[in-house]
Amino acid sequence: EKGTYAHFMLKEIDEQPIVMRKIIQKYQDEHGEIQLEDDVRQAMTQADRIYIIAAGTSYHAGLVGKQFIEKLAQVPVEVHISSEFSYNMPLLSEKPLFVFISQSGETADSRSVLVKTKALGHKALTITNVPGSTLSREADYTLHLHAGPEIAVASTKAYTAQIAVLALLAVGTAKAKCLHLHFDPLKELAIVASAMESLTDQKEAFEQLAKDLFSTTRNAFFIGRGNDYFVVQEAALKLKEISYIQAEGFAGGELKHGTIALIEDDTPVVAISTQENVNLSIRGNVQEVVARGAKAAIVSMKGLEKDSDAFVLPKVHELLTPLVSVIPMQLLSYYAALHRDCDVDKPRNLAKSVTVE
Ligand code: M6R
Repeated sequence: EKGTYAHFMLKEIDEQPIVMRKIIQKYQDEHGEIQLEDDVRQAMTQADRIYIIAAGTSYHAGLVGKQFIEKLAQVPVEVHISSEFSYNMPLLSEKPLFVFISQSGETADSRSVLVKTKALGHKALTITNVPGSTLSREADYTLHLHAGPEIAVASTKAYTAQIAVLALLAVGTAKAKCLHLHFDPLKELAIVASAMESLTDQKEAFEQLAKDLFSTTRNAFFIGRGNDYFVVQEAALKLKEISYIQAEGFAGGELKHGTIALIEDDTPVVAISTQENVNLSIRGNVQEVVARGAKAAIVSMKGLEKDSDAFVLPKVHELLTPLVSVIPMQLLSYYAALHRDCDVDKPRNLAKSVTVE
């Protein structure tokens, strides 16, 4: 099933452009418009607040999804880690809609929230890669990721599929509310698919960077602001789970509030810069860590780059940058794990779906 690939993870990283195109195809009608089922559209437009519930990588996709739903559809969104929500339930709005994001649809922590919120009479939408899964069956509505089976424990193509589907959900909702959008998601996602392809075609660059940064280190930091902050959290999780390097994703502006104390000579720091409004400030943060001895690498977006950047990403719409900036992060983790002789597809202590609370 892996074909010519050494690992499922690499195969699944490479499948992301195909998944983007599949989602574009599955979510449009014959007029090339985003098509949400009537009941999903209704649930989204009637809700006064969306509560996104998820774990791990799916939670990180939820953080990006919040931006789409708030900015495009103008509905307030809260994103919660499912295991926390269960015993620390926030004050709920009058007409909440619960959106569960789960690749497997079997995550027990998320299911426990579904059971509790259903008992309170609230509606639920599950976004999953497995339509017949528990979370899909027990929710009122389901959106399918169409990512194909994800075998590697480290989630890659499900993350980008979740983000793409959340973008389409936001656009579908905005249209149902007759909001005027300057954003053509199908066109923009097609641009993303090509950008992803160009990144997966440049694996040697990331293999080399992974070697330079992560061959022997015990820890690593990823920094970003805005949308990039969400992606650096995912980057750190990816690196931790398969290479066992202690890694953290931080908001650039938070460094000076404590974290910068951890920087020593040769501490690897990867910064992502894809947003014009924070480009200068994140570069300032990089200077601060370099001044303290860090080995820094900046991954920037075309138009914002400087000569010294480690890698420049092809330009995509500013709302969708996580879909491309995550690819180098996935590849860096993959090669870091590979060079450290770790079991890439089946990291220690982890299962593909976590069916216990
Ligand atoms: O199947 P789910 O999306 O509900 O799984 C949630 C997490 O367990 C999952 O994303 C986990 O964090 C991955 N191993 C991350 O790569």
